[in-house]
Amino acid sequence: MRQTPKLWEATYEAETSEDLAEAYRKWCALYDRDTVKVMGYVGPQTAAAMLDAYLDSKSCRVLDAGCGTGLVGEFLRSFGYNHIDAMDYSPDMLGEAEKKGVYNRLIQADMNDKLNIPDDCYDATICVGTFTYAHVGPHAFEELVRVTRPGGYICFTIRDGAYQDYNYREKMLDLEAEEQWELQELWEKDYLTNENVTAKFCTYKVLAG
Ligand SMILES: C[S@@+](CC[C@H](N)C(=O)[O-])C[C@H]1O[C@@H](n2cnc3c(N)ncnc32)[C@H](O)[C@@H]1O
Repeated sequence: MRQTPKLWEATYEAETSEDLAEAYRKWCALYDRDTVKVMGYVGPQTAAAMLDAYLDSKSCRVLDAGCGTGLVGEFLRSFGYNHIDAMDYSPDMLGEAEKKGVYNRLIQADMNDKLNIPDDCYDATICVGTFTYAHVGPHAFEELVRVTRPGGYICFTIRDGAYQDYNYREKMLDLEAEEQWELQELWEKDYLTNENVTAKFCTYKVLAG
């Protein structure tokens, strides 16, 4: 049976944000190879294609939240988007993302805190691979809604297992009940194909609140 790479495990076992940043510091250079080639990571292209179906202009302002090394940004850029900002907690992952040359702006921020980004700043927000074990909890949806303009879209993945353990669905439903956002689609899809791991792929439309 395939062994999960150890560097990957450390990101799931982090107990503090400092531990997590250290795990990504060690992993950043090998992240693309390990995820895409070894684990069969297909989250970025699936989510980028989902979001693309909702956006009516390639000059939309898009925030890639938890951008990592920029896999999502690369797909969005290949679809023609030319205003993509990258946000991540890890300076090392942001450094890898910068090398891809697909982002307008790089923002170092902790999604578990309030973001230093004005309200309604983006036409769309995409967040792939970041709602998972030991990373970002469901309360962060509120900030993604705040920085995305009414009528804009938020597309994100939630890893299976973490989805159940961290009660993401409860927060999603609370925000639906508060008319903060409206569900467009929610699918269970392949995520890490070589590990037989799926994720929820969700798209919401932001409401005026
Ligand atoms: C599994 S990677 C996904 C990266 C990229 N979106 C992708 O699909 O390849 C998760 C990313 O979330 C970032 N992250 C974890 N916790 C975070 C937090 N609290 N705030 C912002 N980014 C965070 C990590 O630094 C890492 O780059």
